[in-house]
Amino acid sequence: MKSLVVYFSAESGTTAKVAEKFAQMAGADLFQITPQKVYTRADLNWTNPLARCNREHFAKKDVPVAGTVKEFAAYDMVYIGFPIWYGCAPNVVNTFCKDYDWSGKKVYVFATSGGSGIGKTAEKLQPYVGGAEIVSARLVSDASQMKDWIPAMPTMDRKEELLYSDPSNPYESIYIHAKIEDDCLTVVDSECEHGPDGGWSYRIITFDRENTVKAIDFLSQGGRDPFATLQRMLGYEQRTRKFREACDERGIQYQDRLAF
Ligand SMILES: Cc1cc2nc3c(=O)[nH]c(=O)nc-3n(C[C@H](O)[C@H](O)[C@H](O)COP(=O)(O)O)c2cc1C
Repeated sequence: MKSLVVYFSAESGTTAKVAEKFAQMAGADLFQITPQKVYTRADLNWTNPLARCNREHFAKKDVPVAGTVKEFAAYDMVYIGFPIWYGCAPNVVNTFCKDYDWSGKKVYVFATSGGSGIGKTAEKLQPYVGGAEIVSARLVSDASQMKDWIPAMPTMDRKEELLYSDPSNPYESIYIHAKIEDDCLTVVDSECEHGPDGGWSYRIITFDRENTVKAIDFLSQGGRDPFATLQRMLGYEQRTRKFREACDERGIQYQDRLAF
């Protein structure tokens, strides 16, 4: 199940904040819908009848989008987020949607607003995502309100592989176990063990999403950056390099950021 969060955010980054956090929670890719001509503050001043936002809305204008989503066909689920404008999705979101083939996809719509409810937002968006099923649409202020939209990961067989250990150091052994899926290494759990001789071994084991959450908690303790913590635990620069080499040897994509 591959999922994508696409969002548009203009005024104050309210929708962006929700989208970014949700993409992280769901392990989804993220794409920001940006108009080719970015909105200025004056463009968004809907109290001025001549402002760009009003002209575009009332003339039902297309708003060309910068950039495209790569391999859109590969996504099974798409979460679309935007601020409610005039009781529906901003034109730029509709223009974005028109450019892709939505057939067979499951779509979830989330919106922020200055007070309006979600109303008929999804119904109005449906013609632009022809062939997709809009499963749910919700007004939100925080990503946690969409938690139930994240599909439960099927429990996988635990697949472990010793990627690196340092035989030259008897006090310390480092085991890196990982789930390997889509040619990508995903580290989703960790264990720390004290050896009988006072040394320690550190293991990173992967299996399901529940454990991903545990790993994030573990690696982020005290507000630390999980990747930095992992690097520190793996040892130092040299070991990280060896880890990278071990990944390379196996043809596994090593990510600078862990794919949580
Ligand atoms: C052109 C325009 C139209 C808007 N229309 C509505 C609306 O119909 N109902 C509403 O509650 N808020 C409306 N808003 C407010 C935004 O939905 C709200 O501030 C949103 O959370 C901003 O998100 P952003 O910071 O991600 O752009 C409108 C804002 C703009 C700029």
